[in-house]
Amino acid sequence: MAKIIAGLGTSHIPLLGHIIDKGESRAENWAPIFDGFQFTKRWIKEQKPDVVILVYNDHATAFDMKIIPTFAIGCGEEYRPADEGYGARPVPTVKGAPKLAWHITESLIKQGFDMTIVNEMDVDHGLTVPLSMVFGEVEEWPCQVIPLAVNTVVYPAPTGERCLALGKAIRAAVEQFPEDLNVQVWGTGGMSHQLLGERAGLINREWDLAFMDDLQSHYEALAKISQVEYIRESGTEGSEMVMWLIMRGALNHEVREIHRHYYVPVSNTALGHLIYENTDAAACEGGE
Ligand code: DHB
Ligand code: FE
Repeated sequence: MAKIIAGLGTSHIPLLGHIIDKGESRAENWAPIFDGFQFTKRWIKEQKPDVVILVYNDHATAFDMKIIPTFAIGCGEEYRPADEGYGARPVPTVKGAPKLAWHITESLIKQGFDMTIVNEMDVDHGLTVPLSMVFGEVEEWPCQVIPLAVNTVVYPAPTGERCLALGKAIRAAVEQFPEDLNVQVWGTGGMSHQLLGERAGLINREWDLAFMDDLQSHYEALAKISQVEYIRESGTEGSEMVMWLIMRGALNHEVREIHRHYYVPVSNTALGHLIYENTDAAACEGGE
């Protein structure tokens, strides 16, 4: 049976993709940022996930004001890196996992999540930058990816409670898939940042660190944070944090935090990154 073995949260800062693509990630001023992913790079080589369900938000790239899906799942064979105005990133095409993606879609819809099904789209920095941060510069991404795009850009975005519930439903869906697959769920975006307007540049370190602390065990309380509260406390783009709740919901109630990295500022953003592994005990009990 397929099994979710770990979850990973990370910001998806476009500048870092640009630094990697220019071959400058080892430069002195960038090293402390990238050093926080050295553990992750070793860890992922041991973990060897077959599939990553990568939760991200599209930034008006595949979708625009014409179509704004609240939750969209990629069921396609592959996804090209998007041209976001400066040419496409020179990174591999993302290979999908259509069989598992269709299974998850069917299960989610039966569980009451009316997903938008996407067979063709290009994927922007929200998806490709986390892949680069974790896998580095590679000829091919070493696993298949199911893109799961969440509207965090246009009001009204889905609530934290709905996102947490979606994560739980994803877990149930994956566990019913008959093939032996090692699956991870990644939540991307955040942490505190605001790109536009009077409060552009806003960072709230205390808020971010409290969020990271609470995500392990008090995620039900975090799910009650409203979009307005995210925006007030962590900036307009800080509201991307709901995607970490989808990742958290897909894991067991008990998880082990095996890595954490927090760095301020990167571009306009507080960079946050953590890794959770499902604890064996909880896995044996079937979770909660
Ligand atoms: C930045 C961060 C983001 O999450 C994003 O989507 C775009 C830009 C930034 O820090 O510049
Ligand atoms: Fe973003």
